[in-house]
Amino acid sequence: MSDIKQIEDIFLKLIASTKNIDDLESIRIKALGKKGEVTKLMKTISLMEEEERRTKAPLLNALKDKIIQNIEKKKLSINTDILNEKISTEWLDISRPSRSWQKGKIHPISQVTEEIVEIFSDLGFSIAEGPQIESDWYNFDALNIPPEHPARQEFDTFYIEKLKNKIGEPNVLRTHTSPVQIRHMEKNNGVPCRIIVPGKVFRSDYDQTHTPMFNQLEGLAIDKDINMGHLKWTLEEFCRVFFDIDDVVLRFRSSHFPFTEPSAEVDIKCSWDDGLLKLGQGESWLEILGSGMVHPNVLMACNVDPLVYQGFAFGMGIDRLAMLKYGIPDLRSFLIVIFVG
Ligand code: PHE
Repeated sequence: MSDIKQIEDIFLKLIASTKNIDDLESIRIKALGKKGEVTKLMKTISLMEEEERRTKAPLLNALKDKIIQNIEKKKLSINTDILNEKISTEWLDISRPSRSWQKGKIHPISQVTEEIVEIFSDLGFSIAEGPQIESDWYNFDALNIPPEHPARQEFDTFYIEKLKNKIGEPNVLRTHTSPVQIRHMEKNNGVPCRIIVPGKVFRSDYDQTHTPMFNQLEGLAIDKDINMGHLKWTLEEFCRVFFDIDDVVLRFRSSHFPFTEPSAEVDIKCSWDDGLLKLGQGESWLEILGSGMVHPNVLMACNVDPLVYQGFAFGMGIDRLAMLKYGIPDLRSFLIVIFVG
């Protein structure tokens, strides 16, 4: 048997008996690799005499082609076997629900704002709004905070350049939602009223519990017979529903705001067991809002007669309430933007 025929027999047998792709690859290298048997024979072609070459070269080329074809055929058959094996052993339950994927969610602040608005709507309050860039008049003067008043320094106000140096031109980023009290009351039929004002406010302050932009909710109720008892009931009712605590205990701590008289800061009873905050019980207090009876000067600034009308106002930080209700430790996490890829 010639060399060529012998080599062909050996390799075709080897190929036929292989069961996996790796072995097939080693056989290919053994035959057709740089130092493979067939390659070695192919290299001899150039050394042959003309006549020998004429007979052997086609035979060698045929050998090479045959081995390549056989390897390809075997590869296909091994892959088909692998696939058939997979099909018979693996299975897919196409009735299973698909994996859930991240969708955008409503921001916690928007959620909490909605919850608060809903509670106050049930108590008869409607929503009012005002601009975020205010004039000194609405943000300060009309709220009984004249230019020389120290309270102006207490707010870390962002001022913006006055475009036209006119009195009343908007020039501050509102430091609280209280200017909307004025905007509402000065309107015709502004009183009597029960309004809430959710919105963004701005102060130049930044740490774990302060961000330069945050959210407040203002409340204002004006009528002919409103007293502090109504304020107390309203806030207790709000906290009871918002925090879902039946026996909520609030403390009205005497305080000072230029736009209310008397003024009270409101604390909610809580405990700090093992560093865990629990609202509604315990020995500690946590401040949640500022409030009071609207100052007569504020009513007069809106052309409302303080001898006929009185009422209460309150302002709460929505972000703070969201942190308390949902145990969010750092206010700044509300401002983190998460990109879901
Ligand atoms: N505007 C006050 C603040 O931002 C809160 C407040 C509103 C207090 C209404 C009393 C009445 O701190």
